[in-house]
Amino acid sequence: MKPDVLVAYPLRPRQMAELERLYSLHRLDLAAPEDREAVLAKAGPVCTAMVVNGHVTVDRAFLDQLPNLRLAACSSAGFDQMDLPEMTRRGIRLTNTSDALVDDVADMALTLMLAARRRLIEADAYVRSGEWGRQGMFPLTTSAKGKRAGIVGLGNIGKAIARRCEVLGMEIGYSGRSQKAGVDHAYFADPVALADWADVLLIATPGGAGTEGLISAAVIDALGPEGTLINISRGTVVDEAALIAALQAGRIASAGLDVYLDEPNPDPVLTALPNVVVYPHHASGTEETRDAMAQLTLDNLAAFFAGKPVLTPVN
Ligand code: DGY
Repeated sequence: MKPDVLVAYPLRPRQMAELERLYSLHRLDLAAPEDREAVLAKAGPVCTAMVVNGHVTVDRAFLDQLPNLRLAACSSAGFDQMDLPEMTRRGIRLTNTSDALVDDVADMALTLMLAARRRLIEADAYVRSGEWGRQGMFPLTTSAKGKRAGIVGLGNIGKAIARRCEVLGMEIGYSGRSQKAGVDHAYFADPVALADWADVLLIATPGGAGTEGLISAAVIDALGPEGTLINISRGTVVDEAALIAALQAGRIASAGLDVYLDEPNPDPVLTALPNVVVYPHHASGTEETRDAMAQLTLDNLAAFFAGKPVLTPVN
């Protein structure tokens, strides 16, 4: 008999077909919340595993409906909508897919940095508008080479960003909970000190408990009028009102953002600013990476049902 699996968030078609083949699926249709209770009532007693994503709220009330759940195979890096301590307390193992998206997310951090610093979006509009040649030269921008990249959170993504920044000839500093052994980049215990040192602040810390507002008004202002803030982490990590105020007043030069406090409806004041480059929380959104994330989720399920250690445990 096929094991029962709750699908709280769908994978890509190829991996959904594989899930269908291997398991008896109970699907929560996010677009049909009225069916939710009925699906959970049926799935709750029989499902020991679920496929989920960081955008799904997994709180006590949800967990109460899944008393036999032992594995939450999350097809994203982030799990900030999940009550991880409660899951751990109930003996539920969480896996994620951060290993699969490191390079694409780091690439996007660099893309946003260069686009913001070289004013790519404004330049694109300038050429398309026919203003080129009529209104003098497009303003000069700033080089990456010789500048300082301050990375908040030197995990796998932070390290991948550091490698790319080094290739551009940038100096690297970082902040985090503790200094990393064997890393010779400059360490700053305090993000304000890191921002004060850096020309570009790149936020790569995982979101969730304890990181809300970590990038405060004081951190943003310490970056200074030539500084750029890049966020590929979570919107909640940055004091977004302070960021908007600093960008409007020219207390920092620019920002490049993949994430926002309110998704998918970022503050229109923020998105109207010319010195911000915006991306729709899609840094991992390539064919290759989404495929690898879905496959890793399947592999974690397979390991769990085979009684083997899961591949990428979080707790
Ligand atoms: C992740 O995997 O957490 C990315 O932010 C996409 O949601």
